[in-house]
Amino acid sequence: MICQIFFKMLNKVCVFTIPCAPKRMGKKISMKKALFFVSNWKMYLSYQANVALYQQYEKQLASTITTTGHTLIVCPAVSALATITHTKSAPFYLSGQTCAAYSHGAYTGETDAQSLRELGCTYCIVGHSERRVYHHETDEIVAHQAQQLLNQGLIPIVCIGETREEKKSSQTHAVIARQLTAVTKVIHASTVPYLLVAYEPVWAIGSGQLPHQHEVESVFGFIRTLTHALNIPPIKLLYGGSINQSTVDYLKNTKNLDGFLVGKTSIDVAAYKAVIQACSW
Ligand code: PGA
Repeated sequence: MICQIFFKMLNKVCVFTIPCAPKRMGKKISMKKALFFVSNWKMYLSYQANVALYQQYEKQLASTITTTGHTLIVCPAVSALATITHTKSAPFYLSGQTCAAYSHGAYTGETDAQSLRELGCTYCIVGHSERRVYHHETDEIVAHQAQQLLNQGLIPIVCIGETREEKKSSQTHAVIARQLTAVTKVIHASTVPYLLVAYEPVWAIGSGQLPHQHEVESVFGFIRTLTHALNIPPIKLLYGGSINQSTVDYLKNTKNLDGFLVGKTSIDVAAYKAVIQACSW
């Protein structure tokens, strides 16, 4: 909701626009908080299909994002970033899906953080479980990637989460502590306003299975305790793994939740719009 104050000064009418709580019939109505939606398109689509999907986002999601106040972060294939950034007009943010752990040099096939910034990115995912598993990215590599992003003023979206075996052996908190501590070591001097941390149980990604809400709340509480004493920017907590039209309702009221990281559903614009609308007032 927007509240406008008109103020006459020197025969000119100045208009100040400030956010204020919505009111109906003189009574305050409750307003859900604005959330982050991170759309991870992975390698689902070709270059041309990435560009076409982004155009669909602009047509079908821009007004939803504007009216809800949510933040939409799009992570297309790196090959499509230049085209998208040059044609972009909607109030969406762009993100890389990963970046190099080095600033530049003889690292065939890598994408450096400076290029991501020059390509219009504000954010970049690091530590996604698919990178940890298929590309053997360790906690230390993820920390160096985050460091490269911070050096360029980009905001890391740090993915953490336990495997099914680790969950079964009650190691969830230990794994999260290990993954997060590695990254927090490098971000003390950061000037970014906040960090996004996505809790993504590896077993929930693409499986259709969700953790219980109380399990996510327990992990979020643990992360808050872990990061509380550290001199790092504020943390925004996201959940990721099998979020779609039917599952989002179960987790959208999770305590301390600041948003979702969405994979497969984010390439189906209608389904994704329904997810975003389900979290809107
Ligand atoms: P999913 O992927 O939404 O398809 O489960 C989430 C992710 O990998 O981040």
